[in-house]
Amino acid sequence: MSTGKVVTFSSLGMRARGTCGCADEDVQALVRAALAARQRAYCPYSRFQVGAALLTTDGETFDGCNVESASYTPTICAERTAVVKAVSCGRRQFSSVAVVAHLEDSYVAPCGVCRQLLAEFGLDVAVYLAKVDLSSVLVTDLRALLPLSFGKY
Ligand code: THU
Repeated sequence: MSTGKVVTFSSLGMRARGTCGCADEDVQALVRAALAARQRAYCPYSRFQVGAALLTTDGETFDGCNVESASYTPTICAERTAVVKAVSCGRRQFSSVAVVAHLEDSYVAPCGVCRQLLAEFGLDVAVYLAKVDLSSVLVTDLRALLPLSFGKY
């Protein structure tokens, strides 16, 4: 993956401040929240478990997992589950999002639809894409993932 920087999970806790401006401990907690949410994935069709956790600028965390449907189309990704949970609780300002899933040789990044929904509430969102074993984290941001984005008009 060309965009972003790969770091170790433990190094997230060694720097004073994370990309999002929040304490690095919060980033580790966010990744752990995404990992825990992944365990609740309902994915009998793809068997591809994804967990996400969204941090508000107030420091609240909303997690989410993917939820699939037998008719496939209603399937919702972990990231959008988290966004919908947050927004329906009245939160619209986000500083970062963590995503955890297992791919052997890469990191799972939000799909295009999820990038667009995240962008609805602002592009200044740090993105942490973590391995399930927490061996490494790809750190990037929504602007890099959604260049020339279409926004409010
Ligand atoms: N999925 C997510 O939850 N997030 C992503 O970033 C990529 C894909 C889900 C949707 C579906 O349940 C499964 O992974 C396979 O595509």
